[in-house]
Amino acid sequence: MSLYKPETIECNGETFKIYLTKEELERRVAELGEELTEKYRGKNPIFIGVLNGAYIFLSDLMRNVAIPCEVDFLKLSSYGDEKVSSGQVTDLKDIDADIEDRHVVLVEDIVDTGLSMKYMLNKLQLKNPASLATVTLLHKAEATHHDVQLDYVGFKIPTLFVLGYGLDYAQEGRNLAQIYILDGDQ
Ligand code: IMP
Ligand code: MG
Repeated sequence: MSLYKPETIECNGETFKIYLTKEELERRVAELGEELTEKYRGKNPIFIGVLNGAYIFLSDLMRNVAIPCEVDFLKLSSYGDEKVSSGQVTDLKDIDADIEDRHVVLVEDIVDTGLSMKYMLNKLQLKNPASLATVTLLHKAEATHHDVQLDYVGFKIPTLFVLGYGLDYAQEGRNLAQIYILDGDQ
C-alpha cells in the first residue's frame, strides 16, 4: 500500500509541512482505543462520527476498540472553504440510529471554537442517551471559547490551521496520512 505522506504539500496554492507523523498518530489513536475499550466494556457503545473530517480518525479509532460496538454518522457544515470558522453551524445529516438509553461516544476530528461540539452535544442530549462522551483527535485549546466537555483528547495543539488525516482545506488534503500545518507556522 502506498500512503500519501510527502514532506511538504501544496494545497490551494499554499505550502504545508508535517506537524504530526503517521507514527505519532497511530500511537495516540491506539492509546485512546485502549482507554475506550476499558471504559465501555459490556456497554456496547455507539460511536457517532462527525462527517466529513472525522471519518479517518474514527475508522482507525474503532479498530483499536476491542469490544462490540456500533457506528453512525452525522454531518455538519461550519467552515465553508475558508481557514477560519464561519461561526455558523448548519445540519446536513442527522444520525439514523435510535440512541435512547445507549452509551454514545461522539467522535470529532478537531475542536476549534467549540461551537460545533456544543451544538451537537445539545442536540444528542435531547435524544436521551444513557451516557454521552466526546473524543476529539485535536483540540485547539486556546481557541475554544464555548463551554464544552471533552472527555478524550488526542493532541492539544496551538491555534494553527491543520490539514490531512481527514481534515481538509476547501475539501482537499483529507487523504494525507499525516497532519500538516502551514509552512510559515511555528
Ligand atoms: P468549531 O465549531 O469552531 O470548534 O470548529 C470545528 C470544525 O471546524 C471541525 O469539525 C473541523 O471540521 C473544522 N476545523 C476546525 N479547525 C480546522 C483546521 O485547522 N483544519 C481543518 N478543519 C478545521
Ligand atoms: Mg469536523
